[in-house]
Amino acid sequence: MEKEIQELILQARNAREKAYAPYSKFKVGAALLTGTGKIYNGGNVENSSYGLSICAERVAILKAVSAGELKLKLMVIYTDTEELTSPCGACRQVLSEFNPKLEVILVNKKGEMKALNLEKLLPEPFGFKKDDHD
Ligand code: THU
Repeated sequence: MEKEIQELILQARNAREKAYAPYSKFKVGAALLTGTGKIYNGGNVENSSYGLSICAERVAILKAVSAGELKLKLMVIYTDTEELTSPCGACRQVLSEFNPKLEVILVNKKGEMKALNLEKLLPEPFGFKKDDHD
């Protein structure tokens, strides 16, 4: 697992380099390990209509899911900052759709790491059973 984490950190850093964040100038990189052992990464993509900006975490997860990879195992979130960056609420909900117990590791420029489970980041996520409503 240690080797996979190092690779995820590398890929999250690479994705951060390619983030498109001319408005906030806050670049984020994410890398996601799936059940097949593949890694999908992403950086945040902003828009001049600010509210349309998409976080790095969602870029990575949408790349994975649209490639048919629905089993998510571990996500690394990297920022080039002193502080660790925790995923926003919208991203927590989107991640939780596919794995409410996803392992998440936050990494900063000092190489500090914090491992958190999505269960802790988003307790009691929204969801419904398909036959539970009209
Ligand atoms: N952002 C992310 O990409 N991930 C997070 O977890 C928090 C925020 C982005 C959105 C926006 O492009 C910029 O950071 C500033 O909010």
